[in-house]
Amino acid sequence: THQWRGVIEEYRELLDIPAGTPAVTLREGGTPLVHSEWLSGLTGAQVWLKVEGSNPTGSFKDRGMTAAISVAAAEGAKAVVCASTGNTSASMAAYAAKAGLTPVVLVPEGKIAAGKMAQAVLHGSRLIQVRGNFDDCLRMAREMAWNYPVALVNSVNPVRLEGQKTAAFEIVDFLGDAPDYHLLPVGNAGNVSAYWLGYMQYAALGRASKKPVMRGFQAEGAAPLVTGEPFPDPETKATAIRIGNPASWKLAEAARDESGGRFASVSDAQILAAQQELARHDGLFVEPASAAGIAGLLQELAGGASYTGATVAITVTGHGLKDIATALEGVVLPDTVVDAEVDAAATAAGL
Ligand code: F0G
Repeated sequence: THQWRGVIEEYRELLDIPAGTPAVTLREGGTPLVHSEWLSGLTGAQVWLKVEGSNPTGSFKDRGMTAAISVAAAEGAKAVVCASTGNTSASMAAYAAKAGLTPVVLVPEGKIAAGKMAQAVLHGSRLIQVRGNFDDCLRMAREMAWNYPVALVNSVNPVRLEGQKTAAFEIVDFLGDAPDYHLLPVGNAGNVSAYWLGYMQYAALGRASKKPVMRGFQAEGAAPLVTGEPFPDPETKATAIRIGNPASWKLAEAARDESGGRFASVSDAQILAAQQELARHDGLFVEPASAAGIAGLLQELAGGASYTGATVAITVTGHGLKDIATALEGVVLPDTVVDAEVDAAATAAGL
């Protein structure tokens, strides 16, 4: 019987990684593309959600990490390092464990969701909290890799984008062509750049007849690609995208310009509302940052943008269980308690 083999074996001939590199894989990728009746109804478009929380460690990072860890291991690395807002560290730690490498994690102190922290720790990371933000951590990770025997696996490592572009391949393989629009959250800007690489490659190969317009959404308090200036003190409840100076800035701008797309910002309130509505309407529980693309679509509709008749893909990047504290901030927890008696429960449930 066939089991999905992971993104390297499924797409090896399309990935720019050294020939014959053995794959360190948790069989990532092959994630669901779920039709959203809710958003299709609101837009008059066909809206499809790429559910990246279904990856082994619960975010899209696994696609790039299988590639980066496979190459690092093949090159003889003994330790790997990343800066992270949480998901990259969870993913790196898992793949490093699988490969027998030592994971070294640099994260901004007190700004990582508990689920991601638990993953990094359980997979055996040397977890170092930094008095600073993600951008400080990334500078330190780069310098550490120059000066110490440790390989850098942040998305400044081009191998990461090679793995991540497979999400675009999967969307086209499933839909039969590229969508007209692709919306997604943007933080360090690796993912939007990787999708664009994937869509361009499939168009060049004739596997798609067109390329989508790329629309990226940042949090209002961390929106350097919108304002054109770095944010020295980025702030947002969507901690995954709390980034003031994205590493893939230039690549992301190229994706925007070449696709005729744009970047816009959404507030934390919009992000959290979108997270809740998606959970209620579509049965998908995503982390706050992952709802930025949904919030972006709703904002555009409110502003009069039209998607009528189009095919729209939206990436929801990570699983809601990673950060339940933030999810619960915006809701009133039911405090109904009844005696162990069915009629009491039914009455309390309003039946
Ligand atoms: N969504 C989630 C859930 C993320 O974890 C990230 C980035 C993004 C969106 C933005 O993607 O950086 O490629 O533009 N998380 C990184 C990390 C920075 O360290 O886990 P991007």
